[in-house]
Amino acid sequence: QDLTFMAGQVGKDGYRHYMEKELHEHPVAIGQTLKRITDPASKRITLPPMPFDPAQVPRITITACGSAYYAGMVGRYWLESLALIPVEIDVASEMRYREPPQPDKGVALLISQSGETADTLGVLRSLKKAGQSIVSVLNVEHSTIGRESDLVLGMDAGPEISVASTKAFTAQLSVLAALAIEFARARGTMDQAREERLTASLLDLPSRAAEVFTRTKDIQAMAALVAQARDVLYLGRGICTPIAFEGALKLKEISYIHAEAYAAGELKHGPISLIDQTVPVVAIAPSTILFDKTLSNLQEAKARGGRILVFTDAAGAKRLEGVAEQIVIMPDVDAFVAPILYAIPVQMLAYEVALLKGTDVDQPRNLAKSVTVE
Ligand code: AGP
Repeated sequence: QDLTFMAGQVGKDGYRHYMEKELHEHPVAIGQTLKRITDPASKRITLPPMPFDPAQVPRITITACGSAYYAGMVGRYWLESLALIPVEIDVASEMRYREPPQPDKGVALLISQSGETADTLGVLRSLKKAGQSIVSVLNVEHSTIGRESDLVLGMDAGPEISVASTKAFTAQLSVLAALAIEFARARGTMDQAREERLTASLLDLPSRAAEVFTRTKDIQAMAALVAQARDVLYLGRGICTPIAFEGALKLKEISYIHAEAYAAGELKHGPISLIDQTVPVVAIAPSTILFDKTLSNLQEAKARGGRILVFTDAAGAKRLEGVAEQIVIMPDVDAFVAPILYAIPVQMLAYEVALLKGTDVDQPRNLAKSVTVE
């Protein structure tokens, strides 16, 4: 979409940047997106009818770029663990030229805020030619990708002006979580009680997300430390690993500080040699997801002088005494929705660091909102 035109239509409502406004729109974006795909009476997830039988789908291929790709990485964990469906995933610029063999009756899941990303559109066309059903998760539904999809799962995140994607990311995740629930229901891999519990945790997210903004002071304290660094390491485990990647990307793209993300278990296979007292280690570590493993990784990093900064919950904070230098204590949520909730403070951290660095937050150097060229 034409940013200058959009910016003309959408004000900052008193916020300093579009990104600040759009960060504060996370709760509404999640709520509106879920409202659209939830039956008001039964409170059950109700996606638009699919042009295939989810029970017969042999494999799903997920592809996207940038933050949308990290949303796809989370979607993969949900689809594999809830619906027991094999998932192939890669960034669009690689998938497009890899041309992996496609199964009969396979489904391709493309994720894009703008619906105009050239690499994602390129893969759509090659997967369509390979006979895959094309499902796209889009914020701009009337876009090229939208027009060429067999099914569009839209989001109600509203126009996203800032180059750095924020509310569209959690809206994408909300749609992907709902899709995994529907596939699990159709494939009989999840009982009614579990479906109700997971759906309730999703529908409760907007209020948990609003609570995150009461942690702004702690996030600003963390930003003061990160802003001094030249290199930052982000760690996650399991379903929160993609959120570490999202955090590193956001920091890079708006504050220009180099950051890398790793699955925490990879630390000892190389990255730990990076760590000394000049390197902040940012961990996304709810106490409900492989916490013991992450804790030992953080102890190793601390032993090498790393500055340990952690997003966790109250239970996790207790166990991090003596290890973490700074902690942001998050509201308790079901592990299922933790990646959606923890994406918010991780993006806020990047925003607060960019403020300290004085960069052009909404229009970072060398970047465009939609990459319509290869
Ligand atoms: C995210 O903050 C970046 N601006 C960028 O990585 C973006 O997610 C990527 O270019 C994909 O864009 P799309 O969602 O519009 O396809």
